[in-house]
Amino acid sequence: MTDASTRRDDRTDRTTPRIGVCYFPEHWPRDRWATDVQQMAEAGIEVVRMGEFSWGRLEPSRGEFDFEWLDTAVELLGEAGIDVVLCTPTATPPKWLVDEHPEILQEESDGTVRDFGSRRHYCFNSAVYREETTRIVERLAARYADSPHVVGWQTDNEYGCHRTIRCYCADCAAAFRDWCHERYDDIETLNETWGNTFWSQQYGSFAAIDPPRHTAAEHHPSRLLDYGRFASDSAVAYNEHQAALLREANDDWFVTHNFMGNFPTLDAFDVRESLEFATWDSYPTGFAQDRSLGPQTADRLRAGDPDQVSLNHDLYRGPRGFWVMEQQPGDINWPPYAPQPGEGAMRLWAHQAVAHGAEAVCYFRWRRCRQGQEQYHAGLRRHDGSPDRGYHDAQQAAGEFAELELTGVDAPVALCFSYDDLWALSEQPHSPDFDYWWLAGAFYRALRGRGVQVDVVDPTADLGEYAAVVAPTLHLVDETLADRLTEYVADGGQLLVGPRSGYKLPGNRLQPALAPGPLTDLVGGHVDQHESLPASLETKLSYRGERYEYEIWGEWLVPDEARVTGEHETGTAAGKPALLEHAVGEGDVAYCGVQPGDDLADAVVTDLLDRAEVDRTDRLPPTVRVARRGDLTWVLNFGGDPVEAEVPADAEWVVGSETVPGYGVGVTDAPLSTVTLCET
Ligand code: GAL
Ligand code: ZN
Repeated sequence: MTDASTRRDDRTDRTTPRIGVCYFPEHWPRDRWATDVQQMAEAGIEVVRMGEFSWGRLEPSRGEFDFEWLDTAVELLGEAGIDVVLCTPTATPPKWLVDEHPEILQEESDGTVRDFGSRRHYCFNSAVYREETTRIVERLAARYADSPHVVGWQTDNEYGCHRTIRCYCADCAAAFRDWCHERYDDIETLNETWGNTFWSQQYGSFAAIDPPRHTAAEHHPSRLLDYGRFASDSAVAYNEHQAALLREANDDWFVTHNFMGNFPTLDAFDVRESLEFATWDSYPTGFAQDRSLGPQTADRLRAGDPDQVSLNHDLYRGPRGFWVMEQQPGDINWPPYAPQPGEGAMRLWAHQAVAHGAEAVCYFRWRRCRQGQEQYHAGLRRHDGSPDRGYHDAQQAAGEFAELELTGVDAPVALCFSYDDLWALSEQPHSPDFDYWWLAGAFYRALRGRGVQVDVVDPTADLGEYAAVVAPTLHLVDETLADRLTEYVADGGQLLVGPRSGYKLPGNRLQPALAPGPLTDLVGGHVDQHESLPASLETKLSYRGERYEYEIWGEWLVPDEARVTGEHETGTAAGKPALLEHAVGEGDVAYCGVQPGDDLADAVVTDLLDRAEVDRTDRLPPTVRVARRGDLTWVLNFGGDPVEAEVPADAEWVVGSETVPGYGVGVTDAPLSTVTLCET
């Protein structure tokens, strides 16, 4: 499929991380391009991404193509020794195409058409758009198939941005009927799996099924879940189609896609199957405002929530690594507020990405644009062409990376992340405060607070190689998953399972047995009651003799074979078991029947790590993170004040020194557990 350099095993081969940038030559006069390229080279930029929204420029009217400008830009970059990643321009079908075929437009659940005027307005299930996609992608791919400078492709741009995975148009209705038919074969099986005797929701045939369009009360949760699966599958199939077209033209190219942070409606594991590796777009100060895993502190507004960002690095990193395709370059336009990032933060983020396995970090964008929707978005250069704050950070990072030769990340712990669970739980959160990302984030933060590298994997992934596995929840469970997890533990694995596990069948109906359903034997106990709790109710418990807080969700557990390790202390739950531990074969499983606060998550996770003999640090302050990649250890400071990092006398600092400045970084060859932190 591809050459050796893109098919390598990330864990053993050594590579030098690269800095890149996203460039839009079409926004600037041609006589400026050579200067741009020269300034890129001076910054140490080695990769440039182009073309993702350029359909209107490449094909100004049907059949009239203009590739010459892109040829010139590719050539200029190539001559400077810069690798080019091109994008298929399908995120923005041009006006003439929309006018010819308005049926390609998406529809919202209330029938509103998503009209021309922004981007991502096409439907994944439109046969017409599929044909148009084939036409433009084939044309572009053929044009650059022999270019020595084009090394790979990004398909489209951010599938699902602006909530565009789920469309409710007539094409989607027809495709959903086919999808249901394929999945259930006969209509009675669908009725039974969903449980359609509730509120008289039985269907007489697949032809009677519609997308869950606007209705009076909430929709049937099983229908919603399957619509979510169907919509994700539709984007997956569309991506497969594009990837196949590109590979047909040149087998040596890598094919990737740029995903989004904490993205809720697209199964990235499924999309990744047709990519060489995934990339994603990281905007830490924006995420701190609209998808943070914790409170909005001043440091998070300046440098992001490190664990929110790293969770996404670890989610998108696969066996062949990952890239950050868009890295925040400075202030940005889309969050409610646009504070300037802390001094040096743009370099810190690049190091954070590399510490988590990134092979390349590309800033978005080269230059602040003087037109259109994103004029309030910084670039590495300002709109007058002069260098902006990010340019200096990018240049420094590029210089530092050039000295490194790194293997991939070898994570001892897996965190299970299930899109099906995310979808099922977001339809029935049962509390305005419940959020799958927050629950996953509570456990993830605890792991990262001990410096441990984590692979974020689907629960059905092969877990055998991990010393410990954390499943923040396993909400939808069948016997096969229960058997696999039991085998993992029986063979010596250490498993930690969070609340709301084993409640439901994959069709999103309750299990016949009490929770955790098929996991009951493994956990060695079951759930007697559950409750969701507003902040005004007390939520305290004791765990191994210490007092802790939990939040949002609590279960009253009944031990069958398991030992009780934690007990509720407050509310109607007082005196009931809240945490269990159960030895199974060579391993152990711990069940945490609450959403833990930070201290409880740390205690439970640290016990797990110690049982699994995983190398770790002392507990880190929330603004400092330590990460190991290959034989190097990064100390990343997301706070504004300097910290002192002590390392053994024979250790060396490859970047920086033991005094790590605010929003700064140090890289040392000291082993992870020998690094100790003291705030100055
Ligand atoms: C990304 C998108 C880019 C640009 C950027 C602004 O989501 O892929 O095209 O809009 O956000 O931060
Ligand atoms: Zn549609």
